[in-house]
Amino acid sequence: MNKLSIVGAGMVGEAAAQIIAREELCRELVLMDVQGDMARGKALDVWQAAVESGSDTRVHGGGDAALLQGSELVVITAGVPRKPGQSRQDVLSTNLPIIDGIMADIKQHAPSATVLVVSNPVDVLTYRAWSLSGQGRNKVFGQAGVLDTARMKCFIAEQTGFSARDITALVLGGHGDSMVPLMRYCQIGSVPLSQFLSAGQIEQIVERTRKGGGEILGLKKLGSACDAPGVAIAQMVDAVANGRNRILPAVAILEGEYGRTDIAMGVPCVLAEEGLARVIELPLDAQEQAMFDQSADQVARDIGEMKAL
Ligand code: LAC
Repeated sequence: MNKLSIVGAGMVGEAAAQIIAREELCRELVLMDVQGDMARGKALDVWQAAVESGSDTRVHGGGDAALLQGSELVVITAGVPRKPGQSRQDVLSTNLPIIDGIMADIKQHAPSATVLVVSNPVDVLTYRAWSLSGQGRNKVFGQAGVLDTARMKCFIAEQTGFSARDITALVLGGHGDSMVPLMRYCQIGSVPLSQFLSAGQIEQIVERTRKGGGEILGLKKLGSACDAPGVAIAQMVDAVANGRNRILPAVAILEGEYGRTDIAMGVPCVLAEEGLARVIELPLDAQEQAMFDQSADQVARDIGEMKAL
């Protein structure tokens, strides 16, 4: 990939930039923020760190939207993080105009760029970004499930003592307390998780995963998680930049899959050169579908709230 821009040089944007630059996922990386000098400074720091790691990715930053010109992929991390005790939806009224402004900049300077939305509430803001983009759903999608899945893998590794490398897991639904960890699809070295953990232990892992972001926020107090979100972004960027055809969970606009339309939420997707190449529709049992529907109803209410603003 030639050029990638990250809009929002906060903790998450910076964490993602570091990995993207170090792993040479693009030739030119822009870190853009309304605080132009802060973005410029962080870009220099990230560039110098990348050079130390032997990377030739050029990193620069600033506050001018014209920096987006020619970007093939734009990652949006801008906006305020929630404070302890707040839900992700509580930051909607602050972050919505920020997303609207960024989408106007993208339309002006990089209208055909693929857009990866990370800012919260991510399901609602992915829907908004897609509605404003005038592009197909393959070009506008969001990050949530890669992070939620990583959290679940940590908790499974902790409970079972097995290597996290051998754990595969999948989290669907909205990025909130109603997210749907699909434990039936969770395996360790191809062996179903239920072989190792009781139903009660699995339920504890589900609950901790659902509240995984809040747990970190409650401890850090001054900011949300940033390192694991940064890696999650880099994995999705890598899948697109290197046309890997990876199956990863992403926040996608649904067009009838899982019985839903006119909504954005987490589902397994194929990420490829053209962006979100397709949504994979898994057969859900009655209980899983009920959890998915509950999560979708919540996201639909949140989108309704957004439309009323
Ligand atoms: C989290 C926030 C960033 O899950 O959504 O940590």
